[in-house]
This record gives sequence, C-alpha cells and structure tokens, in this order.
Amino acid sequence: MFSIQKGRCSWSLYATIASVVALVSVVHLFWFPLTPSLDYFRLVQKTCVPINGSADASIKNINESKQQPIDLEYQFPADLHKAVFYCGAPWKAEIGRWLSGCDSITKEVDIVETIGGSGCKNDCSGQGVCNQELGQCWCFHGYSGEGCSERQQLDCNFPASPEQPYGRWVVSICSAYCDTTRAMCFCGEGTKYPNRPVAEACGFQFKLPSDPNAHKLSDWTKADLDNIFTTNISKPGWCNVDPAEAYALKVKFKEECDCKYDGLWGRFCEIPVLSTCINQCSGHGHCRGGFCQCSSGWYGVDCSIPSVVSSVREWPQWLRPAKIDVPDSLNLTGKVVNLNAVVKKKRPLIYVYDLPPSFNSLLLEGRHYKLECVNRIYDEKNATLWTEQLYGAQIALYESILASPYRTLNGEEADFFFVPVLDSCIITRAYDAPHLSMQEHRGLRSSLTLEFYKKAYDHIVEQYPFWNRSSGRDHLWFFSWDEGACYAPKEIWNSMMLVHWGNTNSKHNHSTTAYWADNWDTISSSRRGKHPCFDPQKDLVLPSWKIPDVNSISKKLWSRPRDKRKTLFFFNGNLGPAYQNGRPEASYSMGIRQKLAEEFGSSPNKDGKLGKQHAEDVIVTPIRSKNYHEDLASSTFCGVFPGDGWSGRMEDSVLQGCIPVVIQDGIFLPYENVLNYDSFAVRIREDDIPNLINILRAFNETEIEFKLANVQKIGQRFLYRDSVMLEAKRQKDAYGRVEDWAVEFSKLVEDDVFATFVQVLHYKLHNDPWRQLTGVNKEFGLSRECYTNTK
Ligand SMILES: *[C@@H]1O[C@H](CO)[C@@H](O)[C@H](O)[C@H]1NC(C)=O
Ligand SMILES: *[C@@H]1O[C@H](CO)[C@@H](O)[C@H](O)[C@H]1NC(C)=O
Ligand SMILES: *[C@@H]1O[C@H](CO)[C@@H](O)[C@H](O)[C@H]1NC(C)=O
Ligand SMILES: *[C@@H]1O[C@H](CO)[C@@H](O)[C@H](O)[C@H]1NC(C)=O
Ligand SMILES: *[C@@H]1O[C@H](CO)[C@@H](O)[C@H](O)[C@H]1NC(C)=O
Ligand SMILES: *[C@@H]1O[C@H](CO)[C@@H](O)[C@H](O)[C@H]1NC(C)=O
Ligand SMILES: *[C@@H]1O[C@H](CO)[C@@H](O)[C@H](O)[C@H]1NC(C)=O
Ligand SMILES: *[C@@H]1O[C@H](CO)[C@@H](O)[C@H](O)[C@H]1NC(C)=O
Repeated sequence: MFSIQKGRCSWSLYATIASVVALVSVVHLFWFPLTPSLDYFRLVQKTCVPINGSADASIKNINESKQQPIDLEYQFPADLHKAVFYCGAPWKAEIGRWLSGCDSITKEVDIVETIGGSGCKNDCSGQGVCNQELGQCWCFHGYSGEGCSERQQLDCNFPASPEQPYGRWVVSICSAYCDTTRAMCFCGEGTKYPNRPVAEACGFQFKLPSDPNAHKLSDWTKADLDNIFTTNISKPGWCNVDPAEAYALKVKFKEECDCKYDGLWGRFCEIPVLSTCINQCSGHGHCRGGFCQCSSGWYGVDCSIPSVVSSVREWPQWLRPAKIDVPDSLNLTGKVVNLNAVVKKKRPLIYVYDLPPSFNSLLLEGRHYKLECVNRIYDEKNATLWTEQLYGAQIALYESILASPYRTLNGEEADFFFVPVLDSCIITRAYDAPHLSMQEHRGLRSSLTLEFYKKAYDHIVEQYPFWNRSSGRDHLWFFSWDEGACYAPKEIWNSMMLVHWGNTNSKHNHSTTAYWADNWDTISSSRRGKHPCFDPQKDLVLPSWKIPDVNSISKKLWSRPRDKRKTLFFFNGNLGPAYQNGRPEASYSMGIRQKLAEEFGSSPNKDGKLGKQHAEDVIVTPIRSKNYHEDLASSTFCGVFPGDGWSGRMEDSVLQGCIPVVIQDGIFLPYENVLNYDSFAVRIREDDIPNLINILRAFNETEIEFKLANVQKIGQRFLYRDSVMLEAKRQKDAYGRVEDWAVEFSKLVEDDVFATFVQVLHYKLHNDPWRQLTGVNKEFGLSRECYTNTK
C-alpha cells in the first residue's frame, strides 16, 4: 500500500496537488524538506551503542542477507548476576540479549499515515473539537449532542430537601451562582467580581463548636451570605473585596475563601494564567481550563493531529518528513477526503486512541482544585510549577507517547494501542460534582473507576476494528492509582497494564489499601472477574512521578560514592500505631513497616522504646527528615516498603543512588520483570525482617560497590525526562524561558522512563508468545532472525 511503490505520488501529480493548495497547503512538498528544527532538548530516538559481545564474537552488523540465525546467547552472555547489559542497564538476560542484538540495529520503515478529512456536524457549533478521523464532535464541558449544540445542566448541588436546602455535601456544593456547564460555583451577576470562585466552605456558615479547640465544621445547610455578598463598604463580602485593598490589609475577608480553580492565580483569582492541558495543546489550540480547543485544521486531545486543512509546515515531528500521497480522484467540490502521507518510522509503533473527552479532557476541564491529577500548574507569569503529585506519571507518559516518533495514526501498522483513560483524575474527582454519580458506587472510587474503563472498552470495541484482532492483547492501559489494575474490568484483562503497584496476589491476595474507598474486595466478580492485580508475563510497573529536583540533580546526589554513605540502612516514614501520629490500621503497609520498627526503630515509640535490634548505623524513624534526599544519599541501603499500596520509595532510593532494599512479598517494583534486580537491589522476604540487618552486613565491599555502580547507571530510567523536556521546549518557544530544572534535565542524557518503556515494548513485540509475526505482512526494520527465532 505504499504510495511510492505504486508510483502514485509522482511528479506528474504536481499539478493536481498544486490545484488543491487551498485545501491542503502541501504544495512543494514531497519528502517535505524541513529538517526538524534542531531540538536540542529532545533526544528521543538516540541510538544506544550496544555493549561489546564476548571477545571473539565482537558485534558485527547483523547482515540482513545472511542466513545463519544470530546466536544471541553466544554474543551476549549473562554475567554472574544473570544480567545482560543494554544501554547501561542490567536486564534480565533474555531481554538484554535481544535488545543488544536487535533493538540496537532497528531500521526505519515506511509507514502510511492517514490524515483525516471527515468533517463534523455544524463544525461542532464552536463548542467542541471535531475528531476528523471519525467525523465526531468531542464537546466541551457542559455541551452535548452530535454537533455540541445542546447545553447540559450539570448541577452543583444534589437535590434539595427541607432539611438540606443545598442538598447533601459534595465538593461542588454552591450557595452562590452555579455555572451549570461545569458544576462550579462562582460569585455571579450583581457582585463586583462575578467570576471569582466560591468554593466549598467559603459559601457556608460554621457550626458553633462545642469545644473551642475543635476544628471548625461547616454547616452545609446554611449559606454565609454576609461574608460572601455584602457590599457594606466597611466590611465587603468575598465577592466584593478589591484585591489591592485586601493585599494592603485594608479589608478583611473570610479566610476559607480562596482561588481553587485552574487557570486563575492570586488570592482573589484576579490573574488569568494558563491551565494545564495535555501537551498544552501542542501550539495548535487554546487550553480551556484543561480541554484543548484546537485551532482550525487540528484535532486530538492535545491538538497534535493535523487534518487535511492543516499546513504541512506545521506538522509535528512525528509526521516528518512526510511524503504526501494525493488520491487519484480528489473531488474538491464533494466531501473532503483523507490524505495519505508516507513517514519513515522505527518500531514499535503506538496508536493512541482519541477517546471521547469524558475519559480525559472533561476530567481535566471540570477540576475543582487546580492540583488535582496533574503534574504541573502555571503561576502568575505562566511559568511551570511542578507538583509533588505521585500520580503525575500518567500525564507525563501520555504526553510523551503523543509527541513521540513512535506514534502512528495508522492502526493497521500499529504494534500497540494506548487507551488513555486518566484514572488519577477519576479518583481525585470522585466527589467533585453530582454528575460523577458516586451514589451508584456506594462511595467506592474503585468501582467508579472500573466503570470508566469498562465504558472506554465498550467505545473502542464498537468504533474500531483493532481490539478484536488480538482480543486486546496489544492494548495498553495505565492504572496509576495505589491499587493499580486490581480493579480493571474483566473485559480488558488480556491487555498490558501499566501500573505503579505490581501485586501478583500470590501472597497479598485481596485489596491491600488501607483506604476504604479504594478497596475493591466487594466489587462483584461479574464486573472485575477474578484476575490478579498484576501479571508479570504481560504487564509493567512504571516509576511514579517525582518532582524535578534541581537541587539533588545539580549536586549529583545519585553518584555519591560508597565512602560518603556512612549510614548502613535508612528508612523515614510512617511506622504505624506504635508512634505519635502513626497510622492506626493494622493493614497499613500490609504490616511491614510496623514489623520493621519493632526490630530496628531508631527513635522512641509512644512507650519510649527503641527497636529490639536498633543500631548506630541503622535509621528507621517516623520523624520527618529535614534533608530527606541528603539522608538517602548518605546511606548505602534504603528501605522500600509499601504504604497504602505503593509508596514511591523505590524512586527516592534509586534517584539518590542508594541501594533499594525491597520488602513486599509477591509485589513487583518498577521494571522488576524486565530489569535484573539482583544487579542493583536487595529483596528480602517479609518473614526475614528480623534478619534484615544481618543480611545487609553480610554483603562484601565488592558486591556493594557493584550494586551501587548499577543503581547509578539506571537512575535516569526512573525520571520522566522526556516529558519534562517537552515542557521545557514549550516554555522556551512560548516565552523564551529556560528554568533551572530545564537546564539540569537537559544535561541528563541516559535512557529515561519513556526510553525504557519503548525498549520493553520492542522486546515484547518480537517475543510475546501470542504474537505470530512470521506470517505478518509488515516491515519490522529488523533481520528476520530477530523476530522469528529469538527464543
Ligand atoms: C569494545 O571492544 C573494543 C575492542 O575490543 C574495546 O576497545 C572497547 O573499549 C570495548 N567497549 C566497551 C564499551 O566495552
Ligand atoms: C551482507 O552480506 C553480503 C554477503 O555476505 C555482503 O555482500 C554485504 O556487503 C553485507 N552487507 C553489510 C551491510 O555488511
Ligand atoms: C456595616 O458593617 C459594620 C461593621 O460590621 C456595621 O457596624 C454597620 O452597621 C454595617 N452597615 C450596614 C449599612 O449594614
Ligand atoms: C498567561 O496566560 C494567560 C492565558 O493564556 C494569559 O491571559 C496571560 O496574559 C498570560 N500571562 C503572562 C504573564 O504571560
Ligand atoms: C464530486 O462530488 C460531488 C458531490 O458529492 C458529485 O456531485 C460530483 O459528481 C463529484 N465529481 C467527481 C468528478 O467525482
Ligand atoms: C468485536 O467483537 C465484539 C464481540 O465479539 C462485537 O460485538 C463487536 O461488534 C466487534 N467489533 C468489531 C468492530 O468488529
Ligand atoms: C488468600 O490467601 C489466604 C491464605 O493463603 C487464603 O486462606 C484465602 O482463601 C485466599 N483468598 C482468596 C480470595 O484467594
Ligand atoms: C563478594 O561476594 C560475592 C557474591 O557473594 C562473591 O562472588 C565474591 O567472591 C565476594 N568477593 C570477595 C572479595 O569476597
């Protein structure tokens, strides 16, 4: 189906094309000559030189015409720890071997990308974005219908009753003006600042506390009109407070009132700022509180997909250089047709569904609290403010895939299909507004989330042919919340799950969260099936999001040598009920931190006791460290234990160059089914907790140095550098701004999370037993030996 092969895209068509310039400003264009403007920030497709094979079989090009199978085992023998290194990382031998022999030599292949030309009813009435592949409108928050012409009524409040005039509590509860397109509460007409939010406790009176020291409790039945609406000059309500006077402390206002919604800054929401959108609409749209309103000619969740009326000069890098194929029977007067463009790409290729916005954009646009489920917001100068949200990985990975050279619009050629349902948004927004209908789910966010994934599944099965071909095995879903894919609907379990919590349920065979609303034990098996949370044969645990830490990167904490790591073992975190402010639940941390503290606690518990085996060079404390990263970097071994599910300690440890000591039976940590943990980590059974320190002391210096060196080599695989660099580039392009984090991150050049993810996908493409690539009529850019006989 390649246009070049068919010779359709010959120069003789030049005239035809020239005549459609208005339609497709493609014009002078075959192999569109733009070399991608040198993007010094991004090194996505850098090739990683494979390490030398064994002495006499030094690596040669694997010659495509040669018939002998590649003897990977001979060329890339495993080391004493059973690892094969590839791109600086110790992989499980079989994987490292295949990557060394095959991933490193992958060639580009020609892929036909279809540029959509299907229009939408009424062009979505200016209240939505037209998906030009399907010809369907994706409507903004509060609009619906085929052409987005219907306005929805999304109430802020639950139905009123005599006892509860504002309905029962929900985050959107409103005593002022409800914007029913978003179920958000504002001051409204008649006030001095109609667009100022009146969020939650701001709009209601307090109950008189019986105990003067008790926390103030809002009375959700009584509006606080005095503090909100009064115009009495000596005492203006929140909606009439002039920011300048308030900043000058001339007037007082209710302290519970503040600026919670995204896109606004300042104590009084007086400064318009950027909202957080996926890839900030890729420069082809306006971020409408979280929903990308794409410029004409563009669509997709991040406005990254050109339609036929876009200018080829502006096409994203993953579609360049493109050779445009103009159909034989282009009919200018009739319906606009699709166009084909041939683009050179390396596999694995990922198709990203442009799902209806209820699974992503609407969840972002309707957020009631700007920090909910995003990894960044923008300050009054529109500079990036990275958040500490551990769940930011979901957006980071999504953005990287969308902007990646591995992305394809061609589902027939795709090797993987990414289904972008944002569970961290669903979970954090579960109580935001009545229309999220938590009542059907008995308050269980786990059950609500399952429902979203089920609906996304229904959508792709109905609308696309791709699922049925593999029963979904080549589909990817990200479950970023604590319990991972535990509550994936049974229909999607064949797919590859991307999670932070790799519970195989071999030991912990039920919900392990200590937070009731995330528990999934009671979800019926007719919805959830009986699958475990994680299957190491097909799934992957990805690192959680860590805020770009300029300080520890510029100080190179990760590379601190052994002699500066005086503490043998370090753990700082909640240790359970034996300590002040300790979590009371026995199920917290699956009991692991509690046991650890009993043995090695280095600070006194409530009874004034230290752990039974406490030691000078062992720190196990709930007292918050002032220099957490420094402390990790001054230690040789660092504890990685669960909290309410996963806890991000693996990332902390690795990023500070400390050897992780993992204690959580039957639970996989980031990359644990693909990297060779024995080369850089220590795993100890829960039963062995009393022997922990003896086990660590038994390692000799050679072994410790070896592990330390490897932790340092894989460190960057725990950073979402690609996504941070995309943001750096946007800031530079839009404002000419290069912040410290951008400078520090641009110095990091090893493979990051995204590069690792792509390597794993590439391995899976050619080694997953269910794939029968031998008969597949696709070009893989590899010698046949790499995809026929690798086992
Ligand atoms: C690979 O082998 C060559 C020649 O044997 C040697 O000079 C080079 O240092 C080796 N490279 C690595 C990364 O081991
Ligand atoms: C591949 O092998 C053939 C025949 O042995 C040889 O002619 C050709 O030059 C080789 N190509 C490369 C790229 O090594
Ligand atoms: C305005 O508020 C002040 C202080 O609360 C109060 O003394 C005064 O009576 C109020 N005036 C009116 C017109 O409500
Ligand atoms: C920040 O972005 C918002 C929304 O685009 C814009 O209104 C505002 O003027 C910008 N502020 C600055 C300082 O660039
Ligand atoms: C172009 O499309 C219009 C409307 O669909 C149709 O009437 C016309 O015959 C078509 N012309 C050609 C040359 O196909
Ligand atoms: C995929 O299979 C399901 C169930 O077998 C069926 O209902 C659906 O229509 C199929 N989808 C397509 C696009 O063929
Ligand atoms: C979980 O494991 C326990 C102990 O091994 C076992 O008694 C129990 O039946 C298991 N529960 C389920 C739901 O498999
Ligand atoms: C250190 O420990 C490793 C692994 O147990 C062992 O192979 C090695 O021989 C030891 N080295 C020394 C110097 O004792």
